Amino acid sequence: MLHILLLLLPLLLSISNASVNDFCVADLNGPDGPSGYPCKPPTKVTTHDFVYAGLAASGNTTNIINAAVTPAFVAQFPGLNGLGLSAARLDIASGGVIPLHTHPGASELLIVTQGRVTAGFITSDNSVYVKTLSKGELFILPQGLLHFQLGYGKRKAVAYAVFSSSSPGLQILDFALFASNFSSSLITQTTFLDPEQVKKLKSVLGGSG
Ligand SMILES: *[C@@H]1O[C@H](CO)[C@@H](O)[C@H](O)[C@H]1NC(C)=O
Ligand SMILES: *[C@@H]1O[C@H](CO)[C@@H](O)[C@H](O)[C@H]1NC(C)=O
Repeated sequence: MLHILLLLLPLLLSISNASVNDFCVADLNGPDGPSGYPCKPPTKVTTHDFVYAGLAASGNTTNIINAAVTPAFVAQFPGLNGLGLSAARLDIASGGVIPLHTHPGASELLIVTQGRVTAGFITSDNSVYVKTLSKGELFILPQGLLHFQLGYGKRKAVAYAVFSSSSPGLQILDFALFASNFSSSLITQTTFLDPEQVKKLKSVLGGSG
């Protein structure tokens, strides 16, 4: 009998240790690798790690795009680490736009909760899918594709986005071109845009080179 217990003991211990894998709250001081951040020690984890209140308040839309994206990615919400999802809040004032952008690491499920939002994406074979959404309607923006959201009508709009990664990434096309150190001559050569237009957008968005 004792023999059997001794044999079973390591197995029982390994089963109880398995609960460690239920979650891996990010230790944001550690390196962010392809599989996420290292885990915070489970003894230090509290309910607070699984709650994020940062999307409760409106984002500040007093800016050049009259819109705000407030992320709840793993860097803001460490409890998401390794779980393959995250969220964001979009506030779009009258005339606001979230310019063409991609999330290299995730598909996006857009959920409109206030006002109306025109959303669309462009496929790799250059087909465009666009729809104006009302409160309660959902739109799926497939991973990696260029897409946009803009307010429809005069009313303020609010939408939430759910992403299929805890680190979806965000690259805004106009910022990549005109807020970076991509040289004006290379931009002109690689986009066929007019040099004057390139200069103008660079001065508005703060690009150099
Ligand atoms: C919103 O941002 C603008 C421009 O940066 C700033 O002047 C204003 O104080 C901000 N408003 C709030 C409520 O933080
Ligand atoms: C742009 O800036 C980065 C650093 O921010 C630098 O590593 C890179 O070489 C620069 N590129 C050009 C083309 O100047």
